Formats: sequence, structure tokens, C-alpha cells
Amino acid sequence: MEQDMQSLKDFDVGRGVRPVTGVPLVHLPGSVRASGLDKDARWGLSRTPKRLPAKYFYDARGSLLFEHICATPEYYPTRTESALLERHACGILDQVAPGTLVEIGSGSSVKTNHFFVACERAGRCVRYQPFDVCDEALRAAAARLKRRYSWLEMELLVGDYAVDLPALPHSRGPRLFLFLGGTIGNLSHDEALSFLSALRATMHVEDYLLLGFDRIKDKHILDAAYNDARGYTAQFNMNLLRVLNTRLGADFDERQFMHVAFFNEDEGQIEMHLKARRAHAVTLARIGLVASFARDETILTEISRKFTPAGMRALLEAAGFGWCRHEESDNGYFSLVLAAPV
Ligand code: AVJ
Repeated sequence: MEQDMQSLKDFDVGRGVRPVTGVPLVHLPGSVRASGLDKDARWGLSRTPKRLPAKYFYDARGSLLFEHICATPEYYPTRTESALLERHACGILDQVAPGTLVEIGSGSSVKTNHFFVACERAGRCVRYQPFDVCDEALRAAAARLKRRYSWLEMELLVGDYAVDLPALPHSRGPRLFLFLGGTIGNLSHDEALSFLSALRATMHVEDYLLLGFDRIKDKHILDAAYNDARGYTAQFNMNLLRVLNTRLGADFDERQFMHVAFFNEDEGQIEMHLKARRAHAVTLARIGLVASFARDETILTEISRKFTPAGMRALLEAAGFGWCRHEESDNGYFSLVLAAPV
């Protein structure tokens, strides 16, 4: 834990994740996150029940806390999906023969390694366009990838996948779009449908989408995955308050809130909340907002929807995709689907 906190400190915003020489970084319009946060916080903290979009978790510290979550024994998605990628990367590359990998929500790009290793084995050359909301995470990933895969041509894209898909710079096709980790579950049904439809609209007939989705399973396993014993998920959730304090001049006190996460079986989704331990008010000076909390009142900070293969197939078909290939773990915890425009 000591050591972990040290590495977190090293990653603090502004503390020097440098530009990576020779790797272009493009700011897409949605990378202007500040203006979005003003509006989202004003709207989300004035209504009942309170809620905030999950994308604001991912400042430098939040992105690093997420990496810590991925390494906990309870959080099975990362390691399950990684094993699937390791097993099937080669076959997927053979099927798609991509000129470019475009990874949406790339974060640390660790799982993508399986594709680069498979490329080396098969003597293939791809370009890589990682796309993430967190530029520090992109730069750190690019520096590591450049050292390990000197042949890899990269272009880093900073932006918000909810708005920036039409602005993606083109690259050599066919393109294989990667949307991994079960991140599709952060979107409501309607948001997922409009996201997938927007993606579909930017794609050419020869392009593919590889989508990772988390499966509906026993509530205890799901509850544990979002309540790890080391408390990284709690810190990740609380980090949102730090983001609001830093960026909106707010005076949230972490000690006044509790991390709450559970699988809502009726909705088929994990819900993460921050729950007020007592009645109090918080001032967000930069946007001139006072948010009052009743005791036990919550802010919904994230949903993470879980799917059946049939449900995901219907969603993809509604967005104009055909289902080409499905790989699932033996325990049925997690799935990868390769989809193509129809
Ligand atoms: C990165 C969105 C896939 O929903 O499981 C992990 C984020 N939140 N633990 C997820 C997350 C709490 C994660 N995604």
C-alpha cells in the first residue's frame, strides 16, 4: 500500500508525463473537458437523484487508480479479457488484416500488447491510434509502447468518445476498432445505441469493431468486483470529489462520503454511488453552486451494465452491425465480439 501510494503521487497531474518525441498527439474537440464539467456538475448536482458522468474519473490519478483496480483479485474483467485476447489476437488479425488499430478508451494500452505481439509473430505491421480522455495516460502508454515496439507507428488522440467519433483522423484501412474492458456498459441503452450508431457511421465496409462486454453473472461475484478489499475502487470513486475540488474550486470532504457499489439485478447493472454520511452542504465556487446533501443521499457516479450475448447482439444489430465472431471465457464471465458493418 505504501509503495502504491508513492506511485500514485508520482503520477499527480502536472508532475511530468512528458510529450513522447516523434509521436503526434491530436486534441479532438471533446478534449476541452472543463466546459463539459461545468455544465454536467451544475445539472447533475442540482437534480434528484444526483448524478455525474463517469468520464470525469479519469484524470491522471483516476486513470492510475483504475490500473490498480484491474490488478485486484476481485476485479475479474481485465484478466479474463486479457486471456481471451492472448488466445485470439492472431486469429482476429488474420480475419481482419487491419492497417490500423483504433482503440477507444485505450487507457494504459496494456491489453493491446497481445495484438502487437501477434503482429510480430505474423510479420504484420499495423498503425495504432489510441484514443482516450486522459492525455497523461496516453503519453505514458505511448512511451512504453515505443520502447517495446520500435516499429509501431502511433498517433495519440485525446478526446471524448461520446462526441468525437466524427472527428477521428483517418488512417490506413482496414481499421480494427477496439472498445474493450466492458466500457460499453458505462452507457445507458440509448447512449450505447447512439454511440454504436455514430461509430458505425464513421466506419467503412471493410472495417471491424472488436467489443469486450461483461456478462450477467452471480451477484456476489459482481458485488465483490466493485468492492475490492484493498479499497482501490473506493479511492477511484472518491477521486471524483478531488476532481471537482481541483477543477471547480469545490470543498468536498471525502470523510463525509462513503463508497457504495452493488449489482442492481432488476436493471442488470452495477451502480456506484457516493453516499453522504450526514446532512451537509458543499460549495462549488467556480460555478457558483451550493449543493445540499441530506444524510444518506447519494450521487450516482457510474453505471456498468452487464449483458447476455443475445442482448448484445440485438444492440449491435440495432446500430447496423453484424455479428461475425464471438469468443467467451470458459466460465462465461466475459465476452469478445467481432462485429462488422452490414
Ligand atoms: C473501465 C468502465 C470498464 O465499469 O468495470 C471499475 C470502470 N469502475 N471499477 C467498469 C470501473 C469501477 C470499468 N470500466
